[in-house]
Amino acid sequence: MYKIIRNILFLFPAEGVHYFAMNNLKLLCKLGFKKLLAASYSPLHTKSTTSLGGLNFKNPVGLGAGFDKNAKYLNELEALGFGFVEIGTVTPLPQAGNDKPRLFRLPQDKALINRMGFNNDGVKIVAGRLRQWSVENPKSNHSPSRMIIGGNIGKNKVTPNEDAWKDYEICFKELHPYVDYFVVNVSSPNTPGLRELQEKGSLRKILSHLQTINATQHDPKPLLLKIAPDLTQEQIDDVIDLALEIKLDGLVATNTTISRDKLQTTNHKLQMIGAGGLSGLPVKQRSTEVVKYICSKTKGKIPVIASGGIFVAADAKEKLDAGAVLVQVWTGFIYEGPAIVKRICKSL
Ligand SMILES: Cc1cc2nc3c(=O)[nH]c(=O)nc-3n(C[C@H](O)[C@H](O)[C@H](O)COP(=O)(O)O)c2cc1C
Repeated sequence: MYKIIRNILFLFPAEGVHYFAMNNLKLLCKLGFKKLLAASYSPLHTKSTTSLGGLNFKNPVGLGAGFDKNAKYLNELEALGFGFVEIGTVTPLPQAGNDKPRLFRLPQDKALINRMGFNNDGVKIVAGRLRQWSVENPKSNHSPSRMIIGGNIGKNKVTPNEDAWKDYEICFKELHPYVDYFVVNVSSPNTPGLRELQEKGSLRKILSHLQTINATQHDPKPLLLKIAPDLTQEQIDDVIDLALEIKLDGLVATNTTISRDKLQTTNHKLQMIGAGGLSGLPVKQRSTEVVKYICSKTKGKIPVIASGGIFVAADAKEKLDAGAVLVQVWTGFIYEGPAIVKRICKSL
């Protein structure tokens, strides 16, 4: 059934369809169909896990950052059974992102290319929505039925890299009361110069500063770093050393890639699309390699959330077998539809 709907949706521009679909889902929930949606799509067989910073995840399948950048659809995503949702990337000031069109489908490759550029409402507005969500969902942190919320934070495009740590601090402080864990995003290819912050010195400055602030809070939150699949082995080794040194709670591996290797899509179409991060099936293998490398090198000392090319249960299992403790879907959600969490959890 979803395949037919998908064929129709794929006739229209990708970004518009994203909001059309999510707003319709919102309407359904408002009209009282949330329970029906949950009954249809929430996983029956779940495998709860507490392997990340003591948090209790009702199931290990989450939604990757960038899908619900502004925390507008938490209710609806909860009805679809997600164990956790990573909101953001959020920046201190609202920003419009890059010019449209900036999201493209590559159906032959089961992939997407995006150059959204951290379009978001800004941290104050997003924090307000999360505050509202926490008032409406006041369950205890230990309830296994609660959907975990991650806060993915970034810097504004206009902020120079040397001041980036200030932007991360602003986002961290604003979101701290309302999210369960944090992800520092320095790996998006769509903010000029951002990925240079993956260099050890810059990372140390940002992350150790956040850890210091975290330690002063009465309820410190797990702090993770999201890395690109395009890092060299040496760069990954640096990230691992730093993660151990400053006691990061985990890594998210990986973000989108700038590579265009081995695609079925024609060069002509790729040139028409232009720059951006590639996600979905083409990033699956590299992302698994990175997960495996980190987990075996650290003997599991650094928990990893795997992201990249997960469509079906076998893909999720591949990531868990590589050592990941949790998985996230994004492009797979677009291609497989609303039953993706239920299907994956059923076979795990
Ligand atoms: C349209 C789009 C927007 C994204 N925005 C963000 C973002 O704001 N922050 C982030 O950390 N990752 C972002 N991502 C990356 C995803 O969270 C994910 O790590 C990546 O797409 C690989 O997973 P996938 O192959 O399942 O899509 C975005 C991905 C897509 C397709």
